[in-house]
Amino acid sequence: MCGIIGYSGRQNPIPILIDGLKKLEYRGYDSAGVAIFSGGDIKRLRVKGKISLLEEKIKQLQLDGSCGLGHTRWATHGVPSEENAHPHRSCGNQIVLVHNGIIENYHLLKERLLAEGHQFESETDSEVIAHLVEKYYAGCLEEAVSRAVQELEGAFAIAVISRDEPGKIVVAKLGPPAVVGFGDGENIVASDVNPLLSYTNKVAFLEDREIAILTPNEIRFTDFTGKPIEKRIEILTWSPLMIEKRGFKHFMLKEIFEQPQVIRETMEGRIKLDKAQVLLDETGLSLSSLKRIKRLVMVACGTSFHAGLLGKYYVETLARIPVEVVYASEYRYHEVIPDGETLAVFISQSGETADTLASLRQVKKLGLSSLAICNVAQSSIARESDGVFYTHAGPEIGVAATKTFSAQLTALFLLAVGLAQLQNNQEERLNLIQAFRKIPWQVEALLGQKEMIDALSARFLHTEHFLYLGRWVNYPIALEGALKLKEISYIHAEAYPGGEMKHGPIALIDEKMPTMAICPQDKVYEKMLSNIMEVKARQGVVIALATQGDESIKKKVDQVIYLPSTHPLLFPFLSLVPLQLFAYCLAARRGADVDQPRNLAKSVTVE
Ligand code: M6R
Repeated sequence: MCGIIGYSGRQNPIPILIDGLKKLEYRGYDSAGVAIFSGGDIKRLRVKGKISLLEEKIKQLQLDGSCGLGHTRWATHGVPSEENAHPHRSCGNQIVLVHNGIIENYHLLKERLLAEGHQFESETDSEVIAHLVEKYYAGCLEEAVSRAVQELEGAFAIAVISRDEPGKIVVAKLGPPAVVGFGDGENIVASDVNPLLSYTNKVAFLEDREIAILTPNEIRFTDFTGKPIEKRIEILTWSPLMIEKRGFKHFMLKEIFEQPQVIRETMEGRIKLDKAQVLLDETGLSLSSLKRIKRLVMVACGTSFHAGLLGKYYVETLARIPVEVVYASEYRYHEVIPDGETLAVFISQSGETADTLASLRQVKKLGLSSLAICNVAQSSIARESDGVFYTHAGPEIGVAATKTFSAQLTALFLLAVGLAQLQNNQEERLNLIQAFRKIPWQVEALLGQKEMIDALSARFLHTEHFLYLGRWVNYPIALEGALKLKEISYIHAEAYPGGEMKHGPIALIDEKMPTMAICPQDKVYEKMLSNIMEVKARQGVVIALATQGDESIKKKVDQVIYLPSTHPLLFPFLSLVPLQLFAYCLAARRGADVDQPRNLAKSVTVE
């Protein structure tokens, strides 16, 4: 959580920092600040609230300078306030820094530093780093940072400047991400590549226990002990256009509309149609090792966890390999039993989620083989896994995951088909692949229902609770639909497998708690209809997501959203879309901050 940025070069850093912070704002948005070299000193400006407030304040002061730092915060230690906002500084403004992460031993360090006479201004853990660097500062910032970081316990990506060394930024990483961009007479560092895209496509990702020293004309690297190291320069394929709204009111809406393309790009080049085959070679795992797999465990959080739940149905149905799906926050404390036949699959859009990363590191220690399903190239999870299946969704800015979920489902479906062919399980493969290739067009058609869904959402503006029901492969979609509604509209929503209703949740039903029921004509259709009737019998309002042509369901429910017919296993790719649109439209009508919902951040890089 939190976004950090630093710029050193020939331009005034302020517009670059502000633009970068806006692109990082999805990482946290309760307060923000900048610090720049100006007039022989470091000037600092911070606000409680969003980047737009910071921008306004800066305009009033007409700040100007040569090199600087910026930060957007998601509070961990200390309430969101101007005092707790970054950048933080040492006594006398000697050292100024921004931090993403948590310093676990800050209490001890703070006590020690207080006893040594340092004076603190905030309640944050981050401020101790500034005082610690100051303590060791003797004219060379990288040396002081290198000494200080060796005393820190926890997770950090920091960017530090010193009043005595204008133009120099020292970056250190242990845990949260940091990437540096090589410009022409200017260099830049940030928490992710988005702020860098307008300036350069040449970047280097810091590994844990590495330090980068940026000046306008060079970037040097060392390890934490100060030993110089060489880094490989990577060339980015994402373009600045990918992180623009392009006429959409919100990023989330744009990202929902990008789904057909994202599904196409994630399947692109991975299907050999003539042989009805999926190519898994590019994952980096050998086909012989994949063939030996007897069990899978899928580990993820939030929306990625829901993708894993559907992945279980795909792998078990198609490849006949048993799958366990576990929340990463739980799995990291599991007593994992190592064996040579389990593949641990880590599903993460960002590739930086702390719990997922910690789980990956744990299974690696135990010698299990690992595969990441990940959207961000060179992210920690992608780099540390034995193999990677990249989802080609492009950058996702809306905090609520949408297009990356579709991309994850695509990846999991392809993985399941690929594993099925390795197990010689031919059943239905060709039919399925042909049906799957139609999915992007069918999603496109569904997006045309946005106006109808928007009108429908207007009826529920003041609804306080929602129930989402689905069975079999549509149960994970019910969970995902409910999560979307909760996180962006703040309406309470619960999701259940339809058959579970009578074991408790049905007590909630009355005319004030509407139900979204996913009810395609699949093997559980009749069962789902019975569940709908149970809700209707208790005065519940039901909106059904049904297969095109199912006329009879109209008489049973209050509203039907029709979806095109497809292979039953693939229906989730379609049922998902109206649920995303419904959540979006309702949240937008309620005036909610759709792209940056309260209390959330896009990448959860703290435990
Ligand atoms: O980057 P990851 O996929 O690891 O993130 C996992 C969750 O934090 C994420 O899916 C979260 O639940 C989203 N806000 C859901 O919209």
